[in-house]
Amino acid sequence: MKRILLAAVLAAAVCSAASAQKFEGLAQTPPMGWSSWNKFACDINEKVIKEVADALVKSGLRDAGYVYLNLDDCWHGERDSLGFIQADPVKFPSGIKALADYVHARGLKLGIYSDAGRKTCGGRPGSFGHEYQDALQYARWGVDYLKYDWCESEDINPVGAYNLMRDALRAAGRPILFSMCEWGTSKPWTWAAETAHQWRTTGDIYNCFDCVDQHPGWAAYGVLQILDMQEGLRKYAGPGHWNDPDMLEVGNGQSESEDRAHFTMWCMLAAPLILGNDVRDMSRQTSDILLNREVIAIDQDTLGIQGLKFKAEDGLEFWFKPLAGGDWAFCILNRTTEAKTYTIDWQQFNLYDDVARRFTDFDSKTYAVRDLWERRDDGDTRKPRTVTVQGHDVKLFKLRIEN
Ligand code: GLA
Repeated sequence: MKRILLAAVLAAAVCSAASAQKFEGLAQTPPMGWSSWNKFACDINEKVIKEVADALVKSGLRDAGYVYLNLDDCWHGERDSLGFIQADPVKFPSGIKALADYVHARGLKLGIYSDAGRKTCGGRPGSFGHEYQDALQYARWGVDYLKYDWCESEDINPVGAYNLMRDALRAAGRPILFSMCEWGTSKPWTWAAETAHQWRTTGDIYNCFDCVDQHPGWAAYGVLQILDMQEGLRKYAGPGHWNDPDMLEVGNGQSESEDRAHFTMWCMLAAPLILGNDVRDMSRQTSDILLNREVIAIDQDTLGIQGLKFKAEDGLEFWFKPLAGGDWAFCILNRTTEAKTYTIDWQQFNLYDDVARRFTDFDSKTYAVRDLWERRDDGDTRKPRTVTVQGHDVKLFKLRIEN
C-alpha cells in the first residue's frame, strides 16, 4: 500500500513538473516598447516615467506598437518585514501599483526588472530566495513584463533559476511576459523556448555602431558586433520565443544613417524592439525612423522567422527575411564608412532558406519591389537595378510576390 502511495505521489510530482509552463499566447510577434536603462540608467523616478508614458502616446509610438513601458534597474527600495519588495519611496512615492494604473489608463503595459541573484546589477535587492513572493507582488501591482537579469549569480544554475521564476510567475496567475537577461552565457536559445518569451543573446549593447567597450572581465558591444554574434541563432527563434540582441540605441547620438541601419537590422532579426532613447524629446529624424510602419512590419511579420545573411562582399552584406504569404524583405548593409554602388542582379540571389523551407527563385518568380525607407514602389525583379548605399547605412526593400 505504502509503495502504491509513494508511486502516486511521485507520479503527481512528475506530472506537475512536466506541466509547468510559461504563459502561452504572449509575444506572438517580437515585443515592442521602451526601457529606461539605455538613456537613464539608475536615474529614474515616477515623474520621468509618467512623462515617458504620455510621450509614448503623444508621439504616436504607442499606436505604432510600442506598448511596453519598462522600468529597468534601480526602481527598488527595501523588502518589508514579511519579505515583500517595495519601490524606492523617494523615487516612486506613489508606488508601483499607482504607476501601473497610470500606464494602463494610457493603453500601455508596465514592465519591471529583477535579477536571479541576491543583488541586481545596480546593487538593488535581487529575487534569489524570494521568487514566488516577487512574482506575486508584481502580479498584485499589475505588472505585465519582467526582465530578469543575471548579476551575482556565480553559484546559481541558470536553467533552474529561470524555470523557477517562470513557475513563480505562472503561479501568481497574471500573464507576465518573461524576458531573460543572462547575456547568452548558457546558450539559452538551446533550452529556454519553454521558459521565456525572449532571451538576451549577448552582453550589453554599447552606444556605438562599430566598436567594443572592453572592461576587465566584461565587454559591451556596438551594433555591428552584436549583429555578428547572432550568427547561427535564427533557427531557435519564433512566435512566443525570441532571440533578443538587446535594446535599441536609436536616437542616442549615433548618426542618422547608423540609427537607420541599427533599426533595420534589428527588424531583419525579428528582434524585440525596445526603445532606449528619451522619447519626450526626439528629433524628427529619430521619430521618422522609429515610426516607419512599413519597416516595423518587417519585424512584426506574422511568420516570425529571422532574416539570414546570404553573402558578404566588399564591406556590403546582403540579407533576406522570409515574410508571410511568400514575400521577402531584402536588405543591403554597408559596414564601411564609404558610400558603395552595387548592381543587384536578382538571379545572383537565388537561395533556399532551410528554416522557412522556401526558395527566392528569381528565375521563375517575379516580385514587386518597394523601397521602404524611400517609401517608393520601384519596379520589379525582372531587371537588375543599381543602388548606392551610404556608409554605415542600409537599403531596405520589400519584395512582394506577383506570381
Ligand atoms: C545588465 C543588463 C542591462 C541592464 C543593467 C541594469 O547589465 O544586461 O540590460 O538591465 O544590467 O543594471
